[in-house]
Amino acid sequence: MPAMVIVGMQWGDEGKAKVLDALCDEIDIVVRFQGGANAGHTVYVGKERYAFHLVPSGILHENKVCVIANGCVVDPAQLLKEIDALHQRGVKVDGSNLKLSDRAQIVMPYHKLVDQLSEKRKEASGKKIGTTGRGIGPAYVDKIARSGIRVSDLLNPGFLRERVAARLDELNAVLQHVYGEKPLDPKAVADEVLASAERLKPCIADTAQYLNAALDARKRLLFEGAQGTLLDIDHGTYPYVTSSNSTAGGAATGSGVSPKRIETALGVVKAYTTRVGAGPFPTELLDAQGEALRQRGGEFGTTTGRPRRCGWFDAVAVRYAVEVSGVDALALTKLDVLTGERELKVCTHYTVDGRMLDRFPADLSLVERAQPVYETLPGWSETLDACRRFAELPAAAQAYVKRLEQCSGAPVRYIGVGAARDALIRC
Ligand code: GDP
Ligand code: IMO
Ligand code: MG
Repeated sequence: MPAMVIVGMQWGDEGKAKVLDALCDEIDIVVRFQGGANAGHTVYVGKERYAFHLVPSGILHENKVCVIANGCVVDPAQLLKEIDALHQRGVKVDGSNLKLSDRAQIVMPYHKLVDQLSEKRKEASGKKIGTTGRGIGPAYVDKIARSGIRVSDLLNPGFLRERVAARLDELNAVLQHVYGEKPLDPKAVADEVLASAERLKPCIADTAQYLNAALDARKRLLFEGAQGTLLDIDHGTYPYVTSSNSTAGGAATGSGVSPKRIETALGVVKAYTTRVGAGPFPTELLDAQGEALRQRGGEFGTTTGRPRRCGWFDAVAVRYAVEVSGVDALALTKLDVLTGERELKVCTHYTVDGRMLDRFPADLSLVERAQPVYETLPGWSETLDACRRFAELPAAAQAYVKRLEQCSGAPVRYIGVGAARDALIRC
């Protein structure tokens, strides 16, 4: 397994970090390739909880190198905050184990401001996306519009100041005339960002070169996806998505490693479904059962603390996610959370206006009207935390996993039975 990508199969928060953490012994380098501090990746080491936003979750392991590659949007102040918090807990983070791409884009203070202002404005018309407010969308907008500021610009302050002034020349007009805000001072903005530069300098590198050389030297790479397939800018429930490619293809463009070298894709999927923020969610449970899943699963956002919307397993969505990322195997997480449910439902198809649909549609109005067609399976009452082999699971849990495997179209290789590092069954 020289290079494997881990991808979320639903709307994020599938437990990607926990799975990655469990696989860390088998790898040398962990790479974030898209997104930014919108991600919230939780890992438990004993009773200690670590929440990562920008720093790859592999950082807890000694002798691993973590890379924030070119496809990411990086908020320097947030990155330093995370590094400081890790230092305080005795985790070493420096240029030897954290590498930041010189081609990554910087999330500027005005990106966060515009993210929040734009959401507020959309709220009035009921069209809010429910973003994390971390400036992700506006940072990617500037990247694509060729107005972005890159990490390499931190090393060239004169150029950075020019770029910030040029961007604010336009943006200040929007801030004043669209949002009724005061204009921003280019010097103050540039000073704020450059203040972080000194401390980040030792981490800045040409990470594409580093990763390709590492592959040549037979190092093993793990690409840590953030968000999930249904939040992908191209393949997700557009416009209720994030602004990057969170599917497997993003690992190549987002890192400068050829897709030919990324051999395996592991899809991480929850044994039920959750979503944070707005947008359609066909199998959502708006009743007491949804609330029960939320409480038992601790389904509250790692980044924003918002309650996650909960629902049954949606095999239509997962089949689509398996296809889009060419997923070889699945890691099924949070099976333990389903303990105690008398019956479990799995959505195998939708009906829309009386017609059957077994493929996740592009047209959002179809997703909004989709009625899930459910199969009902028996539940189990035994706790699963201590199970470490598939055969130790109750028969009903085994049957549930087998059914999910069949209707998702990929084999289940790992099963999560708790948040703890070792609460994982390898099938
Ligand atoms: P990520 O964004 O995909 O890395 O997922 P998050 O960290 O945002 O959310 C997943 C949550 O579920 C975290 O609090 C994990 O500690 C927890 N978790 C992961 N796998 C399991 C599991 O198999 N069982 C239980 N009970 N919790 C899990
Ligand atoms: P991880 O990596 C769940 C959601 C937001 C919102 C939409 C757009 O922890 O799985 P953004 O701030 O990206 O512009 O928000 O995407 N979202 C996530 N939901 N998990 C995440 O990351 C998410 N990152 C963004 O809630 O609906
Ligand atoms: Mg998360």
